[in-house]
Amino acid sequence: MDKQSKKYYIIDFDSTFTKVEALDVLGEISLKEAPDKLERLAKIKEITDLGMNGSYSFRDSLEERIELLQSRKSHLPLLIKTLKKQVSKSFERNIEFFKNHEDQVLIISNGFKDFIVPIVEEFYIKAENVYANEFEFDEHDNIVGFNKNNVLSSSNGKVDQLKLLDLKGDVYVIGDGYNDYEIKAAGLANKFYAFTENVERKSILSKADHIAPSLDEFLYLNKLNTAISYPKNRINVLLLENVHPKAIELLKYEGYNVEVYSAGLDEDELAQKIKNVSILGIRSKTQVTKKVLDSAERLIAIGAFCIGTNQIDLDECLNKGVAVFNAPFSNTRSVVEMAIAEIIILMRKLLDRSVGMHQGKWDKSAKNCFEIRGKNLGIIGYGNIGAQLSVLAESLGLNVLYYDIEEKLALGNASKCHSLNELLERSDIVSLHVDGRKENQNLIGQAEFEIMKRGVIFLNLSRGHVVDLEALKANIENEKIGGASIDVFPDEPKSNDEEFISTLRNLPNTILTPHIGGSTTEAQENIAGFVPNKIMDYINTGSTTNSVNFPNLQLPSFGGAHRLIHIHANMPGILAKINQILADHEINIVGQYLKTNELIGYVITDIDKAYNKEVIKALRSIEHTIKFRVLY
Ligand code: NAI
Repeated sequence: MDKQSKKYYIIDFDSTFTKVEALDVLGEISLKEAPDKLERLAKIKEITDLGMNGSYSFRDSLEERIELLQSRKSHLPLLIKTLKKQVSKSFERNIEFFKNHEDQVLIISNGFKDFIVPIVEEFYIKAENVYANEFEFDEHDNIVGFNKNNVLSSSNGKVDQLKLLDLKGDVYVIGDGYNDYEIKAAGLANKFYAFTENVERKSILSKADHIAPSLDEFLYLNKLNTAISYPKNRINVLLLENVHPKAIELLKYEGYNVEVYSAGLDEDELAQKIKNVSILGIRSKTQVTKKVLDSAERLIAIGAFCIGTNQIDLDECLNKGVAVFNAPFSNTRSVVEMAIAEIIILMRKLLDRSVGMHQGKWDKSAKNCFEIRGKNLGIIGYGNIGAQLSVLAESLGLNVLYYDIEEKLALGNASKCHSLNELLERSDIVSLHVDGRKENQNLIGQAEFEIMKRGVIFLNLSRGHVVDLEALKANIENEKIGGASIDVFPDEPKSNDEEFISTLRNLPNTILTPHIGGSTTEAQENIAGFVPNKIMDYINTGSTTNSVNFPNLQLPSFGGAHRLIHIHANMPGILAKINQILADHEINIVGQYLKTNELIGYVITDIDKAYNKEVIKALRSIEHTIKFRVLY
């Protein structure tokens, strides 16, 4: 490379190459046993931050910190081990860049070579390209100071170091601190990139040529990227309706640009807001209509942080190649625990007794109160919830009977019933856990109640329209039903401000709950973890496992290959066209996976590394292509 055009990449270490400040970590190690550890660590942090913001003399701050640290040589191996695990994520995933530019990457840091070299060497950065301070030790190996002749130990250290280096070529500085910016300010660098993956220092943001939320962004801007096609920080995520903080954290950690709204947005607002959004996260209130989808030019996936997806126009999503994910099993356990509790409460008439007591009524009696042990629990719908209820109920001594329209394997000692009527006839407790398909409208009505045993306990925690409520009411009043628990209703209030109106109000031994079967902190956390992981899996690998609308494809990893993801309208012959184009360009297919549903076809093709832009163009222009993307 001709010397004039050589490019140098000057990279800061603390909070840039690694996520943390090394001296803070060293303090955690060396002050472990110190009685005033917390005060000392807080002081070190304060001094570090003041230095970073440019408001404290560096040499003074270093001296003070070394004094506070009370460190020794023997602390360094653990420090290095800890820091190796704290390398910034975007540096880890771009190790290829360091490998390909080993003569051009320089670490210039006010930290110490003693720990920097062993860490950056694993990233192909040469020890002689690390410019940093050096510890001084006394005869007992205590760290007592630093080499004061090293320019990096003084206030204007980085600038002076650059002057000494006298680099001939273009210089790009990447760092999070004010002293990184100073290199550019002194006219010694072409550009300064404020690195914000780990910390965001307001004092430098406005001074930077670019803000780099990750190394991906820097590489992308300078056309140096090899590991990923498009920086994740350029992928916009919009999260509405107070999505759980864990989900926000996961998506931010992945590197996406995440925008959060606590409320929902109406159709017009969302249509406006969604234009540049690639991933949308909602809960049950936001309506994702055709109008919204029409203006979503970059949308790849929608995460419904709930169970239901009625609020989303799923077919239109398919037409536009947008994959939708939800969290179908995240609250299974919560529903099951509530059902168990309610069975016991109803069998012992606890609710009415408690209400009576609050009104001053002492009604001590065992009449029509039963243990659950040995009773027959009939579960209608042996899916996720029904099956888990079966296991828990059995452990409490109930005999489990179940009925499902599909063939389901009995768990434990549960007995399968061959008809709904058989289950209704034999059960002391009937619990509904069917799904909400239309055919299940009034699955349980007068005819079914008639078949049940006198005094039966009846639960519906599935869907409101499955039970004929007038028939239910009549059978509670005539004491055919000994107790009932209902969590779901055909018409539910839209918000907590609306009154709950129902024919079931004020009935004896009847528990009414506001659709809270799945409402627990644990379930919310599960949802918050499940949905982002499904979306990230889809974006990173193309896997559509558990997608609500896409054909489900679970894919192997694709090391050493490029993965082409082709979504098209389900028409005959498209796979053949894809393969013809690849054959015409002499591209070797390493693996290929296809799945279709009524509306779309989803084809994943893994090819070996070599391909050119022409192929991509040709694949994109196959007729009926909805979306096409390449993974690296
Ligand atoms: P699932 O889809 O795993 O199981 C439903 C089962 O019901 C399937 O095995 C299906 O074959 C069976 N089924 C459907 N119609 C039937 C019929 N007519 N007779 C017999 N079996 C029938 O669903 P999952 O996750 O177990 O949920 C069950 C229900 O619970 C759903 O309706 C869901 O909406 C509701 N749910 C309620 C919550 C609440 O807060 N109360 C929270 C979570 C789910």
